[in-house]
Amino acid sequence: MARGVSQDVVDELEPARFRRALSHFASGIVVITGTDGGAPIGLTCQSFSSLSLDPPLVLFSVARTSTTWPRIARSGRLVVNILSDVQADVSAAFAVSGGDKFGRVAWRPDDDGLPVLDGTLAHLTGTISGTFDGGDHLIVVTAVSSIVESDPDALPLLYFRSAYHQVVERRDDGAQAD
Ligand SMILES: Cc1cc2nc3c(=O)[nH]c(=O)nc-3n(C[C@H](O)[C@H](O)[C@H](O)COP(=O)(O)O)c2cc1C
Repeated sequence: MARGVSQDVVDELEPARFRRALSHFASGIVVITGTDGGAPIGLTCQSFSSLSLDPPLVLFSVARTSTTWPRIARSGRLVVNILSDVQADVSAAFAVSGGDKFGRVAWRPDDDGLPVLDGTLAHLTGTISGTFDGGDHLIVVTAVSSIVESDPDALPLLYFRSAYHQVVERRDDGAQAD
C-alpha cells in the first residue's frame, strides 16, 4: 500500500472516519423546499442524484432526525432548488434546524404555491413517489413534473471535504456522460 494511505475495515469504522472518507466525493448542493399549512419550509441536501429518465425520477436521502422532512412529506410535493456558486449562504441558511430559514433568502411562490428560491441554476418540481429505508436516513424518490432552467451560464455550488468550492472548467477534454 502507498505510503500515507491507511485502510480500515468497515466494521471498525468510527462514524467520524466514515464521514471523512465520504467527504472526498464532491457533489452539488440542492435545497429541498415545500410547504406546511401554507408556510414555506426547506432543508439543504448534498445527497441529491438523478435516478431515471423515463419516467423522470430523482432521489435524495434525508436524515431520520430532520424536523423539516416529515412536514414536506405530509404535503407530498416538493421543489429541488439547484444552488449556484454564489449561494453558499443559502445552503448554510437551510442547513440549520428551526428558525426562519426563508427570512434571509430571496424566494417566490410558484403557480401552485410551492416556494422557489431565486438565483438558482434550475429547479425541479415533483411529487414524492416512494420513501425507502436507508439506515439512519430515508431514501426519497420523487417523480418530476416540471423543470425550470434559470441561468444556463451560471456555475454550480460544490461541496467537497466539508467545504464549499467552485467549478473550474476543463477545456481540454470533451468527454460527456449521459
Ligand atoms: C452541505 C450540506 C449538505 C447536507 N446534506 C444533507 C442531506 O443530504 N440529507 C440530510 O438529511 N441532511 C443534509 N444536511 C443537513 C441538513 O441540511 C440539516 O440537518 C437540516 O437542515 C436540519 O434541519 P431540519 O431539522 O429543519 O430538517 C446537509 C447540510 C449541509 C451543510
